[in-house]
Amino acid sequence: MRINFNQLDRGYLKYKAEYDAAAIQVLESGWYILGQRGEKFESEFASFLGSEYCVGLNSGLDALVLSFRALGIGPGDEVIVPANTYIASMLGISENGATPVFVEPDEYYNLDAAKIEEKITKNTKAILVVHLYGQAANMKWIKEIADKNNLYLVEDCAQSHGARFDGRMTGTWGDIGCFSFYPTKNIGAFGDAGAIVTDNVEIYEKIKMLRNYGSKVKYHNDILGVNSRLDEIQAALLTVKLSHYTELMIEREAIAHAYLTGINNSCVLLPVIREKAEHVWHLFVVRVMNRAAFVDYLSKNAISTQIHYPIPPHLSKAYEYLGHKDASFPITEEYAKSVVSLPLFEGMTQEEIWHVIQTINSYGS
Ligand SMILES: Cc1ncc(COP(=O)(O)O)c(C=O)c1O
Repeated sequence: MRINFNQLDRGYLKYKAEYDAAAIQVLESGWYILGQRGEKFESEFASFLGSEYCVGLNSGLDALVLSFRALGIGPGDEVIVPANTYIASMLGISENGATPVFVEPDEYYNLDAAKIEEKITKNTKAILVVHLYGQAANMKWIKEIADKNNLYLVEDCAQSHGARFDGRMTGTWGDIGCFSFYPTKNIGAFGDAGAIVTDNVEIYEKIKMLRNYGSKVKYHNDILGVNSRLDEIQAALLTVKLSHYTELMIEREAIAHAYLTGINNSCVLLPVIREKAEHVWHLFVVRVMNRAAFVDYLSKNAISTQIHYPIPPHLSKAYEYLGHKDASFPITEEYAKSVVSLPLFEGMTQEEIWHVIQTINSYGS
């Protein structure tokens, strides 16, 4: 038995008839961009989260870039961001000419609220919180800090569709929630797609204009915009996936539960769940001391793994210009050296789950 890290075709096959019908309806409709399917998805996604408005976009990165643009954040401004995240979080800030200011993570891999205030300066305009791997960050505390310091709060929910903190959905705590529907995400499209949600009508109107060349009325371009529209096929397919998302969350939770209760090897540090936080298990990330040996052992036992992420953004070539050196963010760097993501995907069989658990439990013995 070979276990891939992910197998997207299984997710497709599960609701194949519905996906096929939805795509064909769009093809036959003769209307492919900015139409009723996009509006339907936006309205259903907003109500799933309990948000007032949603704007469908091209990607999760565009959701971040256009959010900071809509908030007027640019050169000279600083935005607090967790050092331990995917580089797209930072790119949303630097693409607008603003500076990402990194903060170390806590033991749940998310922004450590206790370390935010020491990084706030007169130039700080916003906090970007990321709910990494599917677990909500400590939103009550982070929102209090944002409110007290008069900062915008933006949430990167690329990995946290449907995750809550203290009963409230991620994406609805801040001024704007940014989502990616990249195919591997929990609500994944069949191509690139993203969205923002907000309760603020001005932000909503502005991002709607930004995504369509800065226009509200065709060929009346009032602001400098881009092309970042969610197409009708992706919107129709996403509507199907959203309609099944409760079942899909239960499925992910069951796999995570099997790992959490079944993996019993002192070499492997399991993820922990924060009080009041809900985890939607976008990724099941463990930590091991000698990662290369562990990954090699699993690979020899036909189990594929991935690393999220091997190079922390502050040490990437892209952000060399910020001048951070090795050991600037030791917790983040330690995580980057020891994290391993185990297979967890829609349609994973019991046999596959058990094979992963038993293989890990035999490691080092
Ligand atoms: C935390 C995080 N933010 C942003 C993104 C960007 O999303 P996209 O790939 O849709 O641009 C991703 C995923 O790739 C992500 O994992």
